[in-house]
Amino acid sequence: MNRHSLLSMRDLTAKDIVQILDDALLFDNEFKDWQLPLSKALAANLFFEASTRTHYSFESAQLQLGMKVADIAVSQSSVTKGETLYDTLKTLEMVGYDLFVIRHPQDEYYKELENINVPILNAGDGKGDHPTQCLLDLLTMYKEFGTLQGLNVVICGDIAHSRVASSNKEALEKLGSTVRFAGPKEWEREGFEVVDFDEAIPEADVVMMLRIQKERGAALEEVSDGDYLNRYGLSRERYARMKDSAIVMHPAPVNRGVEIDTDLVEAEKSRIFPQMANGVLVRKAVIKRAFGF
Ligand code: NCD
Repeated sequence: MNRHSLLSMRDLTAKDIVQILDDALLFDNEFKDWQLPLSKALAANLFFEASTRTHYSFESAQLQLGMKVADIAVSQSSVTKGETLYDTLKTLEMVGYDLFVIRHPQDEYYKELENINVPILNAGDGKGDHPTQCLLDLLTMYKEFGTLQGLNVVICGDIAHSRVASSNKEALEKLGSTVRFAGPKEWEREGFEVVDFDEAIPEADVVMMLRIQKERGAALEEVSDGDYLNRYGLSRERYARMKDSAIVMHPAPVNRGVEIDTDLVEAEKSRIFPQMANGVLVRKAVIKRAFGF
């Protein structure tokens, strides 16, 4: 495995995280136009699960950094003939690609990729990890509060199936913030501290809402009789009880009217769309790091 791969937030120390966020901030300011000083930099992006933000913000970051990008159409590749993920990636390595971005439904799919020498950036593995989403979440919080220490973060929704929840828990605790979890009992997760959402709201600096992961077997009907928003979601009433300085986050895609009232998606405290712009900045930073710069 290339030592510059980024597979999980477990791979990064607090110092590494700060370095990546510092680079992301430079890409937002003095180094907007910085490009990789390489004569050849070919990215192969492989998405075995649906994606809009992660996929196209990686592509935007790669193009802005001067890379050439191949979008590997997984459904037309030899994966459909039964080729393993390892053999597919070894092939792409042999034919000249320098960076892999991979999203895959299997937790820790990368464990079978030890002998791939090209750096791999994990764009989400099952309910495992989603490190670049976590980094963009951290950047969004840092821009808001000027620190990542001592923040009170509440993450609410389908915790059991969310890689965003697990990556944020790992990183925020490492950085010295408090992160607690709310939502239906059925979707709690071992080792994740539970808090009553209504009690947590007035104290929270960040209220992060999550989508119900239907593709991982979660069903709305299993936890609610059709009133999910008022029972577990961010309703207008809950929003009104947030601190003035607090913000709303959501990795998106949003199911409007389910986990969040549709009018709150672009409300004053919402950072849901700015999170997406921050995603390009952190992805530029992790690509820079992947090439050893
Ligand atoms: C998240 C994901 O794929 O884990 N989305 C994203 O990358 N922006 C969350 C989700 O799909 O609900």
